[in-house]
Amino acid sequence: MANVKFHSGRQLPLEMHKVRIVQKLFLPPVEARLRLMNEAGNNTFLLQNKDVFMDMLTDSGVNAMSDLQQSAMLRADDAYAGSETYNRLAAKVRELFHMDYFLPAHQGRAAENVLATAYLKPGDVVPMNFHFTTTKAHITRLGGAVEELIVKEGLEAVNDCPFKGNFDIPRLEALIGKVGAEKIPFVRVEAGTNLVGGQPLSLQNMREVAAVCNRHGIKLVLDASLLQDNLWFIKQREPECRDWPIRRIVDEVAKLFDIIYFSARKLGFARGGGIAIRDKADEVRMKELIPLYEGFLTYGGMSVREMEAIVVGLDETLDEDVISQGPQFIEYMAGELHRRGVPVVLPAGGLGCHINATAFLDHIPQSQYPAGALAAALYIAGGIRGMERGTLSEQRNEDGSERFAELELLRLAMPRRVYTLSQVEYAIDRVQWLYENRRLVGGLTFVEEPSVLRFFFGRLAPVGDWQEKLVAKFRADFGDSL
Ligand code: F0G
Repeated sequence: MANVKFHSGRQLPLEMHKVRIVQKLFLPPVEARLRLMNEAGNNTFLLQNKDVFMDMLTDSGVNAMSDLQQSAMLRADDAYAGSETYNRLAAKVRELFHMDYFLPAHQGRAAENVLATAYLKPGDVVPMNFHFTTTKAHITRLGGAVEELIVKEGLEAVNDCPFKGNFDIPRLEALIGKVGAEKIPFVRVEAGTNLVGGQPLSLQNMREVAAVCNRHGIKLVLDASLLQDNLWFIKQREPECRDWPIRRIVDEVAKLFDIIYFSARKLGFARGGGIAIRDKADEVRMKELIPLYEGFLTYGGMSVREMEAIVVGLDETLDEDVISQGPQFIEYMAGELHRRGVPVVLPAGGLGCHINATAFLDHIPQSQYPAGALAAALYIAGGIRGMERGTLSEQRNEDGSERFAELELLRLAMPRRVYTLSQVEYAIDRVQWLYENRRLVGGLTFVEEPSVLRFFFGRLAPVGDWQEKLVAKFRADFGDSL
């Protein structure tokens, strides 16, 4: 966002856009929210959007589009093969990442499927700063294993490390020494590390990872789904890059990698995905999987209209006024909550404001999913839909035991250019109220537990009658307020 100072001295994030299309919102009364949360199995994924006041589940595919994106959609060329829309998208990706080849995929996890199917053998190991749920599921599905090598600061909710998503380079070296480079089909760098609170890596750290990979002849892959936030943080926090235009940072990042894949539900502010590839041999290896799983090579399962929107969205990713909105709103929300004593992940990352459920609900054991319980409680308290990012989002170990997450987080995603600051203030207010009444909140237990990606469809029940008590306290405190 542009540098605009307020006469009052207050530091508020100022939107550099105006709203021209709106969607009406409803806030059901607290008694209805209790019923709806239980009908949804205490899983915020199973709520209906019509019953949600602030949808902070994700920033995936729900960001506001610009006027230029919307107008570009009208010129989409919907030829099955050889479409001009594909050519425009492939050219834009090439312009951004300077890689010769581009394969379309319908979204990020589809790119992950193609990548994993093309390169993984049983017994392989894929080092990464941190896993993402769908990434890990595709690797383990094929008999591979994920090794997480994030710096130790990344797993601490609060510290002053500016790049908590960095790789621990000595551990990467040690792992390669232990398992051998031939067992490592690629190293994966996740920009804007999702599950630890949208925390960035530094350009310097990416260079160090690339140097290690080059030395051992290992392919280096970037998951660029959250790259736009990471670019902003590099510009803000890495002294070398302070005066660089965003495009130069993208250039420096991209040249380190062999393959860059992304979810265009995040990067590019639309809906889709793709894989940029440097070498012909890698393109050949993945290409035939696209018509098999995605669609013909010139659309890969995406709508051509969305592809046109991605072309414009990728350009907008280079605009500081555009990419700073999310991180600045998130920093504001995290800062205000911190000031009111609520435990949040600091420094604030990208993607959303992350509440530290371990500290918030320190009376709930991890086996009763404190971050999931907090998500259910916040919907009841305010009609706000967040996403559990803790043990519920983990896969069980092979022996069926729980794999307890290092961090129990409630993520309140900040869809870009969607909510106003007064709506963010409302969310802050309800989280603060919940914090003051946190001892009323209890745990959750599974009623139905799917075996794969259980957090999407799993159904849970509250342990005890804590939710009714929470509703009663809400009525006592807020009277007839919604
Ligand atoms: N990689 C990262 C880092 C992601 O954050 C996501 C999606 C994906 C891959 C998969 O992309 O959804 O297009 O298939 N993250 C979403 C989220 C789901 O809510 O954080 P996708």
